[in-house]
Amino acid sequence: MLETRRRVSRFRRLRKKPAIRELVKETTIEISSLVYPLFVKEGIEEPEPIPSMRGIFRYSVEGALEEMAEANELGINAFLIFGIPARKDDMGSGAYDRNGIVQRLVKRVRENIGWDVILATDVCLCQYTTHGHCGVVEKNHVKNDETLELLALTALSHAEAGADIVAPSAMMDHQVAAIRDALDREGFTDVAIMSYSAKYASAFYGPFRDAAYSAPRFGDRRSYQMDFRNAREALKEIQADIQEGADIIMVKPALPYLDIIAHARRLFNYPLAAYNVSGEYAMLKLAAEAGLVDEQQAVNEVLTAIKRAGADVIITYHAKELARWRKRCS
Ligand code: PBG
Repeated sequence: MLETRRRVSRFRRLRKKPAIRELVKETTIEISSLVYPLFVKEGIEEPEPIPSMRGIFRYSVEGALEEMAEANELGINAFLIFGIPARKDDMGSGAYDRNGIVQRLVKRVRENIGWDVILATDVCLCQYTTHGHCGVVEKNHVKNDETLELLALTALSHAEAGADIVAPSAMMDHQVAAIRDALDREGFTDVAIMSYSAKYASAFYGPFRDAAYSAPRFGDRRSYQMDFRNAREALKEIQADIQEGADIIMVKPALPYLDIIAHARRLFNYPLAAYNVSGEYAMLKLAAEAGLVDEQQAVNEVLTAIKRAGADVIITYHAKELARWRKRCS
């Protein structure tokens, strides 16, 4: 009897007290692995709260600079920049305007910030087009190859302004190749590409579209973003992006796609990012506000799960608050 009992594992030994749990923990999140998304909007002075994303704002160029400095004080060094232009047109020309809002912010950061900030810029057309789609539209159809040139121009204008990383999110086939070619041709061989490789057509982008006024005016994005029923297809998408020259691959959203993150981690030896998107953020915020979950614990659990599944980098609107909680504890 005793023999048998001794052979049966006593898992609780290693859960006995905090220090021993710390000792054997398998997963940690470093603040330096977080990317904090920032919205920069043309034509505003003061930060504008985004009602669907409590705690997140649209900033002017100067406001964004201040927000970055504040985040940096907390140990956050990487930002993903989204632009909101004052005017939209059919071809999304604000996206590749050398004097566009993202380009202006990036230039301003490069001129004014001494610390080692990593600037990643979202490369897409949907915030800039009147129809709200991520590519050129003809007869209600989003044209793939016609869009590639505009995405390449956008990425180039970001690189010229001083971006470290460009992050194509339009889900057009061959967008990574088109961007890599353009960057290399113009001498930006050291600008990296973080590709939204497996980006699903997801209901969880709702609050973002509200924040960036980028909801499609007709139809939806299912002819270019991925079908959430598919996993193998995500691996093909990622493989193609790697072949086309992606430096960092991404799965998006994160929480409903932990299986994809885990597969990608095992199959590809590339840095893997996961985007904890606006709807995931808003859900937690609302649940915490309603007193249904402890916010700090829930955020920590969710982000740790994303890390545990295999993400190296987490793009999250919770970045600042997580960093702040950490600082308070230490
Ligand atoms: C642009 C883009 C979107 C998001 C990131 N880049 C919106 C979309 O595809 O509709 C969503 C991010 C989020 O929900 O936090 N294509």
